[in-house]
Amino acid sequence: MLCARLAPALICLSGMAAAQDGNVTMGRQIAEEYCASCHMVEPDGPFKQEPPSFAAIAVYRSTDQIRARIVQPIHADMPRYSDYMIGGNIDDMVAYIASLEK
Ligand code: HEC
Repeated sequence: MLCARLAPALICLSGMAAAQDGNVTMGRQIAEEYCASCHMVEPDGPFKQEPPSFAAIAVYRSTDQIRARIVQPIHADMPRYSDYMIGGNIDDMVAYIASLEK
């Protein structure tokens, strides 16, 4: 997917109709830095895994559910979102996970 950051809009030339406010590239960087120690954060992550891969989460959770679980983690040891979720980074994180849905 070819994305270019043009302030203020994110333009993605992918033919994807999904309305995404977040920056997928940024979300992936956050995922690799903060989440990859536990989660498979790559596209095509395996489905049966604990914790679930982000690709699997994308399939069985809606965007709203993903957002809710990042804002209010169900697991205590998820890195506190306040440490990395500055600015629109929650949007970026949600957009990245949601983008993994096939
Ligand atoms: C220390 C290990 C660890 C780290 C780091 C971690 N997670 Fe998790 N995560 C888990 C575990 C374990 C679960 C499953 C918890 C459960 O189901 O009770 C989980 C579950 C989730 C879920 C919910 C999955 C569902 O079933 O809906 C989301 C969303 C999620 N993590 C996002 C993230 C994000 C985003 C990051 C990085 C910012 C992150 N996690 C970092 C261990 C981790």
